[in-house]
Order: sequence, then structure tokens, then C-alpha cells
Amino acid sequence: MRVAARPEDEAPPIVIEGLVNRFGDFTVHEGLDLTVRRGEILGVVGGSGSGKSVLMRSIIGLQRPAAGRIDVLGHTITEIDLEQGVGVRRRWGVLFQGGALFSTLTVGENVEVPLRKYYPDLSTELRQQIARYKVILAGLPESAVAKYPAELSGGMKKRAGLARALALDPELLFLDEPTAGLDPIGAANFDRLTRELKETLGLTVFLITHDLDTLYEICDRVAVIADKRIIAVGTIPELIATGHPWIEEYFGGPRGRAAGAAQAAHAAVTAHGRTDG
Ligand SMILES: Nc1ncnc2c1ncn2[C@@H]1O[C@H](COP(=O)(O)OP(=O)(O)OP(=O)(O)O)[C@@H](O)[C@H]1O
Ligand SMILES: [Mg+2]
Repeated sequence: MRVAARPEDEAPPIVIEGLVNRFGDFTVHEGLDLTVRRGEILGVVGGSGSGKSVLMRSIIGLQRPAAGRIDVLGHTITEIDLEQGVGVRRRWGVLFQGGALFSTLTVGENVEVPLRKYYPDLSTELRQQIARYKVILAGLPESAVAKYPAELSGGMKKRAGLARALALDPELLFLDEPTAGLDPIGAANFDRLTRELKETLGLTVFLITHDLDTLYEICDRVAVIADKRIIAVGTIPELIATGHPWIEEYFGGPRGRAAGAAQAAHAAVTAHGRTDG
């Protein structure tokens, strides 16, 4: 669907340099650097309150940093104002922590919100059709279109939020704790959907998560926030090799070891299946 490649398509979609964020005297980020590669699922981990959500809000222009530079899809977000940013804003989709659906709107109407905002000239019929398609793309039954958020389970709410994030055919998808609160099967299904969407739609995904299974199963690389900056970014074996105490505790603790073992077992079964098949 996308037209000719633009020169900026060759560059990494997100480049962050020297980011500083403060709330009063409290410093969240101090000299944070991070580059997100095109087409990857980048997992972002860090302790609660380490600044993951604030980092995401800075990238999408909702949090004005005290210093530093953030380039997204060839635009310097830290220099443009909201109005100028409209063109680039419609090239990403966001699933906020907690979902943040409008409770007085149906699922379909929720998905229509960004379409109304960025494509006001769309006919009602086309807008509704696009919304219905996105609801199905997010793995919900068509009947969910007419339901209100209060009528949905937690997992369905996440999918409705995902449908809204996909409304504008984004190139970049931001997911903040998408599997938090889901049962293990629901979480695994959501992970699979994320991976499928990334592969079929060619998305780049910025995925904040505490879910070790998600990190092992679908992330191409993982970035670790600690001490107000990104202390390491790489594959999980690369991260473990850094020997950083927080990373060792995170991936080497009982839950981390269990998730790693499950992934290794799954990989072995898959490899075995391929040899036989
Ligand atoms: N608008 C705000 N005003 C003041 N402080 C804020 C604001 N937003 C975030 N903070 C503070 O910044 C720090 C980082 O918050 P953030 O929400 O990014 O954490 P997080 O890493 O996403 O945590 P969690 O894993 O619990 O979601 C926290 O100490 C938080 O209290
Ligand atoms: Mg958060």
C-alpha cells in the first residue's frame, strides 16, 4: 500500500540522543540514547518507575523533554509542535498502558476516533468499514464492533485498543504493557498476534513489557532502562553476557530461567519438527 520508498525509510525509524526528562527536581532520564531498527520488535524493560512509559510519551511527543533529541521517521519530534507533527503522528499507533478506551463509545466508534481526527473527509460508511476491518484484524469477532468497553473481558479490551492503534495503518506500533493482566493463554495469543501483524504489515514495534515470555518469544532485541538511561540493548543472550547485576537478576532469577527454558524447549521442538518434515 505504501508508495515509493522515501530516503528516510533507509534510516532507523527512531533515534534518541541525550534524552533528559525531569519532573521538578526529580530526574527520570539523564542522557538516554536509543536507536530502534526498522522492522524489529524492540522490547523495553526496567523496574517499575524506571521511566519506560515516560520514554514512550517522549517519543510520541506527549512529553516535552528537558534536553536531548528524538528523531522519528525522519522528523525531529523534539523540535516540531503538535500542529506540524500531524503528518508524522498519523504514521504511528499507540496502545497505552491500561488501554484507555473511551467508555461511552462502542469498540467500533473507538477505532473511528483517529480516523475522524486525521481523515475528516472520509465518508461515514468507509470509516465504519475500516473500523470493522481493524477490529477483525486485532482478532476480535465482528460482533465486538457494537459492544461497549465495559462489556468486554480484559483481553478483548486490549485487542480493541490494538484495533484503534492500527486504525491509521501505522508504520510504528507502540505497545505499553499489552499483556499485563492477561492469563497465560491470552498473553501468548496476544504475543502471536503482535508477531503476525509485525510480519504481515511490516511494522516496527516498540514494546514495553514485564512479561518474560513475551521478551523471549517475540522480541528481536531488548533494551534495558536502569540508572536513568538505557544500560544495554541486544538479544537476551547478549544482555545476559553484559553481567550487569540488574540484568542478571532479571533474566537469571527463577521466572527468567523458567521463561528461557520454555523458549529453548519450544525452539528444540520446532527444529525437530522441521528436520522430520
Ligand atoms: N506527569 C508526571 N508528573 C510527575 N511525575 C511523573 C509523571 N509521569 C511519570 N512520573 C514519574 O516518572 C517516573 C517514571 O514513570 P513511568 O510511568 O515512566 O514508569 P514506568 O517505568 O513506566 O513504570 P511501570 O512499570 O510501573 O509502568 C515515576 O517515578 C513516575 O512517578
Ligand atoms: Mg509504565
